[in-house]
Amino acid sequence: MRTDTGQVFRLEDYRPSDYLIPETKLTFRLSPDQTVVIAELTIERRAGVDRGAALVLDGDGLMLRGIAIDGRQLAASDYGATPDRLIISNPPSEPRFKLTLETEIAPSKNQALMGLYRSNRVYCTQCEAEGFRRITYFLDRPDILSVYTVRIEADREEAPLLLSNGNLAESGDLGDGRHYAIWHDPFPKPSYLFALVAGNLGVIRDSFVTASGRDVELGIYVEHGKERLAAYAMDALKRSMRWDEEVFGLEYDLDVFNIVAVSDFNMGAMENKGLNVFNDKYVLADEETATDADFANIEAIIAHEYFHNWTGNRITCRDWFQLCLKEGLTVYRDHEFSADQRSRAVKRISEVRTLRAHQFPEDQGPLAHPVRPRRYREINNFYTATVYEKGSEVVRMIRTILGPKLFRKGMDLYFERHDGEAATIEDFLKVFEDVSDRDLSQFALWYHQAGTPNLTVTTSHNPATAEFTLEIEQSVPPTPSESRKRLMHIPLAFGLVGPDGKDLAYGGAEGASVENGVIHIRKRRHVVRFSGVSERPAVSLNRGFSAPITLSVEQRPEDQFFLARHDSDAFSRWQAFNTLLSEALIAAFRNKLGGKEPEFSEGLAELAGTIAGDEALEHAFRALALTLPGEADIAREISANIDPDAVFAGREALTATIAKANRDQFSALYRQLDGKGPFSPDAASAGRRALRNVLLDYLSALDGSAALAAAHFTGATNMTDRAAALTALAHRHPGSAEAREALAAFERKYRADPLVMDKWFQIQAATPGHGTVDAVRALMKHPGFSMTNPNRVRSLVGTFVSANQTGFHRPDGAGYQLFVETVLAVEKRNPQVAARLATALRSWRSLEPGRQAKAREALLSISSTPNLSADLRDIVERTLA
Ligand code: ARG
Ligand code: ZN
Repeated sequence: MRTDTGQVFRLEDYRPSDYLIPETKLTFRLSPDQTVVIAELTIERRAGVDRGAALVLDGDGLMLRGIAIDGRQLAASDYGATPDRLIISNPPSEPRFKLTLETEIAPSKNQALMGLYRSNRVYCTQCEAEGFRRITYFLDRPDILSVYTVRIEADREEAPLLLSNGNLAESGDLGDGRHYAIWHDPFPKPSYLFALVAGNLGVIRDSFVTASGRDVELGIYVEHGKERLAAYAMDALKRSMRWDEEVFGLEYDLDVFNIVAVSDFNMGAMENKGLNVFNDKYVLADEETATDADFANIEAIIAHEYFHNWTGNRITCRDWFQLCLKEGLTVYRDHEFSADQRSRAVKRISEVRTLRAHQFPEDQGPLAHPVRPRRYREINNFYTATVYEKGSEVVRMIRTILGPKLFRKGMDLYFERHDGEAATIEDFLKVFEDVSDRDLSQFALWYHQAGTPNLTVTTSHNPATAEFTLEIEQSVPPTPSESRKRLMHIPLAFGLVGPDGKDLAYGGAEGASVENGVIHIRKRRHVVRFSGVSERPAVSLNRGFSAPITLSVEQRPEDQFFLARHDSDAFSRWQAFNTLLSEALIAAFRNKLGGKEPEFSEGLAELAGTIAGDEALEHAFRALALTLPGEADIAREISANIDPDAVFAGREALTATIAKANRDQFSALYRQLDGKGPFSPDAASAGRRALRNVLLDYLSALDGSAALAAAHFTGATNMTDRAAALTALAHRHPGSAEAREALAAFERKYRADPLVMDKWFQIQAATPGHGTVDAVRALMKHPGFSMTNPNRVRSLVGTFVSANQTGFHRPDGAGYQLFVETVLAVEKRNPQVAARLATALRSWRSLEPGRQAKAREALLSISSTPNLSADLRDIVERTLA
């Protein structure tokens, strides 16, 4: 574990390295406790650098066993080696020389899961961001591009499979039960894209012929016996490859594309060149074990990692400050892929829900940072919703501003201009300026300035002059270390909706530039006047969520109701209803706090009924519309002095009101949606299940409904329905005989399947109420739980601290106590996972004073622990600052 040194890395300090490494030859002699790594590095002095400039290589916990230059062993006085650094103070004066290093590492002892480690007896690697330096000394930075040749030697029985990046060049026997393989990757790449996998795994194979006729062998490697469960991932891979050709004109470039699923993995997956390594949760699926959400995630992540081959690998990042260059762009690409494969409107709504649930609280709390940060202490803590999800929104806005044709032209220019390079955000923006002749300098603030901008809007209509006016004011709230903000360029898509539900045509617009249904906000205040508008429209703003902002619109409730029924933009229709729900929930919270019972307008429950039964709407859309804002969403809107118990009670009251008012209709629809026939994971079937399961959730809020959920559970023929029923029982009928029986039955059936048991842990950890903290403690002793496996920790403890508002924020601080203990215990083995877990308290300042004090105590008790990792110290100190 790297203990914190307090070192801060700054964007402005970037400078190119003195040396380059054009070629890297690696030999691995694999053994669990003593793996020998021999690195033969071709080192080249950069033009203009002084002869004899010191060569300084990065390491992390390494042990050097041998070192030679051009075949000559170095004397101890020629170099200095510590576990974290290798310095050769007087390297040869020739412009090029060969440095040979021998290090020894112990994969079996690597519990941080960075560098080379073992997962279920399989050797695998994770090098992004700075894991390669745990394998050998190197210039471990993304602007050092090298051509890799990798020789792997291993025990044939233990590791019949030997994989690395690129194409297989040679393989053979070594005698003594050992064998070897040599892989060569012709594309220069940064060290973070290096990968090695060795072990005994099953495989499914397929092939793909690219648009220009190249044959690509595809392989997905999984635990023996699980091959069948990789079929959906393989299908998603082939669809991704075709889509990237059709939509971006990008083809795959090697003869082989392999994916390996491992069960111990710090994040979702990794785009290593030609050898993606995945958390098995995002590969393995069938209807028995995976929910529709799992299928959708697998499709999206397979696509994401595949798309990195161009956005990330062929064009990589100059330094880690540019992380969004590959991540934001690649998320944008995977979002578009899923939108094309499924329903675009439904996909957009889910994206926005995710952005609001994960990125908004980050942007509005102590961990806020720009999409392109300017400083960091630990880069692993910047794989955030801001870099990924907001980063994707920024790319989407570029497309909105330029239009689809120029956007594609800009992307083409990006690939043409920067292929084979390590690029920056400035390079990326420049291609769009060049193809469009637009000045994007104000727009660039989206990359440089943190915080969620807000637009306040008031409207007025003058029938006499047929003028409709929007007064729009922008503000960007202060964020840590950025107290003064500059004005942003916000593309605000809109429509003026007439009484028949159709968009009104208007004569002209002045006060802002308005093009193609988008108002370009650039100043603090715009008064936008539309002429030729004789009837007062309902205004639909930020259609399709054209900008990642918050809106405060002074709008009559009847306009909101009208838009929820009639807006032609499906996203805005969803938004209008969601806004109504959210306002009702905030009012309910205030009532609860004041000791009053919440009251809801009749129209709201009635509209819920109308939407549920509207055959013109997709099932999935209806399901999303009927899903109430979550407790965390409500808390975010309230923003201060949160009592999670009052939020919860208000939400329960609205659920019950909607359920009671629509009891008969919901039951009838629920029965009607009971799908018979074979399972299909496609979007339409998933949508039908989603609607039925949302209805189940409402019906379960009614008295005497445990039997219905229990029948849903026993009658389920797929995991989506089974997990939904178990959730309804555990959350709406906790402690009931039906809930206990279903939990026990589920456990009996899936005991041997850790990924399915994760759902069992999750559902229990998310059960609302003050008793859950004790249940979670008990479950941590369950034989299926493990503190060393990131998926287990995230399912049980991660769910509890991030998705259980009433349980985690128990007023006596017992939830925080469990949080502290777990974060510190996980940190000893795996600082990255611990730091991620620790972000659960990022919104602690929004809590009411009692909980706030307890949360602060908890954070202080972590920060006062000696020898914290850089990862955890960084998160905890920023959270407290
Ligand atoms: N590049 C990977 C992906 O987005 C994620 C790697 C995360 N690495 C980390 N150290 N957190 O596909
Ligand atoms: Zn990525």
